[in-house]
Amino acid sequence: MEVFLPLLGLLLMYPYPSFSLPMCTTLRAPVIAKDGLAFCPYKGRVCCDSTKDSQLQMQFEAMNISDPNCASAIKSILCATCDEFSGNLFKVESHIPLLCDTPPDSKQSFCTHVWDTCQNVSIRNSPFATSLQGAAAGFPHNTSSKLTDLWQSRSDFCTAFGGGGGGPDAADCFNGRPLQQLNSNSTQPPVPPKGMCLERLGDKGYINMAAHPDGSDRAFFSDLPGRIWLATIPTHASGQALGIDESAPFVDLTDQVKYDTVFGLMGIAFHPNFTQNGRFFASFNCDKETSTTCSGRCGCNSDVGCDPSKIGSDHPCQYHNVVAEYTVNGTSSQPAKATKGKPTEMRRILTIGLPFTNSHGGQILFGPHDGYLYIMLGDGGGRNGPFRLAQNKKSLLGKIIRVDVDTTPKADDLNLWGNYSIPRDNPYFEDKELLPEIWALGLRNPWRCSFDSQRPSYFLCTDIGQDRYEEIDVITKGGNYGWSIYEGHLPVDSQQSSKNNQTTSDSTETDLIFPAMGYHHSDINKKEGSAAITGGSFYRSTTDPCMYGSILDLEICSNYLRQTYDLYATALWAAAETPTNSGNFTSTSIPFGCARDSPLECNSVPNTNLAALGYIYSFGEDNKKDVYILASTGVYRVVQPSRCNYSCTKESGTQVQTPGSPPSSSGNNLEIVLYISLILVLVGYML
Ligand SMILES: *[C@@H]1O[C@H](CO)[C@@H](O)[C@H](O)[C@H]1NC(C)=O
Ligand SMILES: *[C@@H]1O[C@H](CO)[C@@H](O)[C@H](O)[C@H]1NC(C)=O
Ligand SMILES: *[C@@H]1O[C@H](CO)[C@@H](O)[C@H](O)[C@H]1NC(C)=O
Ligand SMILES: *[C@@H]1O[C@H](CO)[C@@H](O)[C@H](O)[C@H]1NC(C)=O
Ligand SMILES: *[C@@H]1O[C@H](CO)[C@@H](O)[C@H](O)[C@H]1NC(C)=O
Ligand SMILES: *[C@@H]1O[C@H](CO)[C@@H](O)[C@H](O)[C@H]1NC(C)=O
Ligand SMILES: *[C@@H]1O[C@H](CO)[C@@H](O)[C@H](O)[C@H]1NC(C)=O
Ligand SMILES: *[C@@H]1O[C@H](CO)[C@@H](O)[C@H](O)[C@H]1NC(C)=O
Ligand SMILES: *[C@@H]1O[C@H](CO)[C@@H](O)[C@H](O)[C@H]1NC(C)=O
Ligand SMILES: *[C@@H]1O[C@H](CO)[C@@H](O)[C@H](O)[C@H]1NC(C)=O
Repeated sequence: MEVFLPLLGLLLMYPYPSFSLPMCTTLRAPVIAKDGLAFCPYKGRVCCDSTKDSQLQMQFEAMNISDPNCASAIKSILCATCDEFSGNLFKVESHIPLLCDTPPDSKQSFCTHVWDTCQNVSIRNSPFATSLQGAAAGFPHNTSSKLTDLWQSRSDFCTAFGGGGGGPDAADCFNGRPLQQLNSNSTQPPVPPKGMCLERLGDKGYINMAAHPDGSDRAFFSDLPGRIWLATIPTHASGQALGIDESAPFVDLTDQVKYDTVFGLMGIAFHPNFTQNGRFFASFNCDKETSTTCSGRCGCNSDVGCDPSKIGSDHPCQYHNVVAEYTVNGTSSQPAKATKGKPTEMRRILTIGLPFTNSHGGQILFGPHDGYLYIMLGDGGGRNGPFRLAQNKKSLLGKIIRVDVDTTPKADDLNLWGNYSIPRDNPYFEDKELLPEIWALGLRNPWRCSFDSQRPSYFLCTDIGQDRYEEIDVITKGGNYGWSIYEGHLPVDSQQSSKNNQTTSDSTETDLIFPAMGYHHSDINKKEGSAAITGGSFYRSTTDPCMYGSILDLEICSNYLRQTYDLYATALWAAAETPTNSGNFTSTSIPFGCARDSPLECNSVPNTNLAALGYIYSFGEDNKKDVYILASTGVYRVVQPSRCNYSCTKESGTQVQTPGSPPSSSGNNLEIVLYISLILVLVGYML
């Protein structure tokens, strides 16, 4: 319980988001029940299996409710736990969903309906009585009660059980009907933005950006060799570039970081409480042969049926993925004011030896909802996942892991890979076959992930494909994303991948989750292996209103940007989700240009007004939710579309011109082609 309490605290502090993803109360993804359930009126994506369904039926029948209208309302409430959105319907530790109550005391209020139909009806083992007694589960023993025995009035009853928005798109309260029906009304074809306008704020290639947790206009940027800078972000249209002093990094970790074409400082993360505790984290590679602190267990080991001497790599486990904790060099009373960090490692969080040199992920992020640290780990490389490590429940490779860096680990028998403790709601607690750290599995190289700042339950990751398919996955608790059985939805050559398979701890192929979005390499470029997805971000800034369907307007348009190597620099997509919260994304390729008044001039694709960004490493977001592209040619911010002459009717007060000319389709931009190919050769292996 001790470990769980901080989580509860956080959940209560951040009430459930109003817009949310299909998710069960267990935080797992719903499963498909094609023919539906026998008792509860749900089919398609559901959160109950037939066992749960018949338990609910027995519970319902034991209630012996004489009034048919009341019985039907109570049945719908019991069955709400099977709703694909049930994760968002229930308050913590309640087994009654939040009953919609808008407007209060009206016919539309479901809570009023329950009170009106059930107030004088005897219900044995009433679920409302157990809630009253604070029992988290189970039945009270054979007592019958009416609502009027327990609550004085409608108003008392609905104060206890009612709440939520109740609007047409509400996914946060229960209206007596499956939420899918409510959501399906909002289906409308997405209107793709005309283009994305960028301004160039810096000319250096950074690989990570993290907004300063104090909410200010500052952000941290880091490069691959191992330095982190603290920069000031200029206001829009000020003509100013990024305020950054290259010669004075916030912290320099280059002597700890193994840096070459495939290795480096892969991720940085600042503790959610950084302004009080000054703690920050870095994820990087190290080399056992040059660093004494670079030692840890090898990810290829006998637990997972992998023999390091037989993997055909020159240096099995010479290189490691490390996550380490650091602290600011400032006064302890005001760490947020610190402009320097100490390069001395305070605590080693994780060390894992890599069987090969490529596909090792390394991004780290704190969950906005839960405050836990998520660490992205690639499958360790090798063609077709030679040891099926991504599917192996005893391996951390090819996984997203989730750890608690705030609770001191107890000496127990969990045999952990580092110095952290395990959140009590990690999937291990339901599946003891999984290593306790694992949050999601079946990934090849989860390169860049992001949480939607409006809907923290939307956790999306780009998973880089091998040579056929690039994917974006919606990551859920315990979700298995298929690699190395599938690349996207394409089966991987089975003979290759079952070589050396360890069937005992392998997961089964059932319940694999296929990508939410993605593309075939052949859609982009005929040359095999030359198109890798790098990352994306939900666009939640009001700067470009055509990319953000206003939240006041109930049509939320969740734009998700992604980028590939494309010769003509047009391969950036905006994807919109229809209906809202459905997980059904439609992508459209959009052009991107450079603002005419950009502080630094952009390179442009010859004969077009499209920006040539070079190789794109990552996306970033500042405290104003503005989105940044981190590319080899510098830092770019998404700005008002009118600054590039892209028309956007939602942008007010600007004279909108006709959009820029379409990209040239002939290969007249040799310079760009060469440049991108060169970068590919250098960086391609990392992916
Ligand atoms: C169900 O309730 C009715 C009265 O409403 C009663 O006659 C009957 O015995 C009850 N059945 C059980 C199994 O308690
Ligand atoms: C419930 O009982 C109360 C008082 O006995 C009465 O005023 C009310 O009309 C009844 N409601 C229903 C729906 O039967
Ligand atoms: C509750 O009552 C039912 C019907 O009267 C009976 O079958 C059952 O055994 C009782 N259960 C308990 C726990 O007393
Ligand atoms: C959604 O559509 C159904 C069927 O067309 C309709 O009955 C229902 O009232 C609509 N819901 C809302 C919230 O508009
Ligand atoms: C998914 O989105 C597309 C495009 O907006 C739409 O045509 C389709 O009906 C949606 N599918 C579902 C299952 O809602
Ligand atoms: C944040 O820091 C403050 C001050 O040190 C401390 O009181 C609080 O418990 C911390 N909260 C978390 C969630 O770490
Ligand atoms: C930390 O700050 C103090 C005082 O400003 C300075 O003397 C010291 O060199 C700094 N240490 C590091 C590691 O930056
Ligand atoms: C884990 O980290 C804590 C806090 O920094 C430290 O006190 C402890 O010694 C560490 N444990 C190990 C085994 O390194
Ligand atoms: C791989 O797994 C399959 C069944 O899943 C099994 O038949 C086969 O023998 C395994 N191969 C090896 C080399 O263990
Ligand atoms: C946008 O339109 C203005 C006025 O027609 C023109 O001067 C400017 O060059 C255009 N800018 C771009 C980036 O196309």
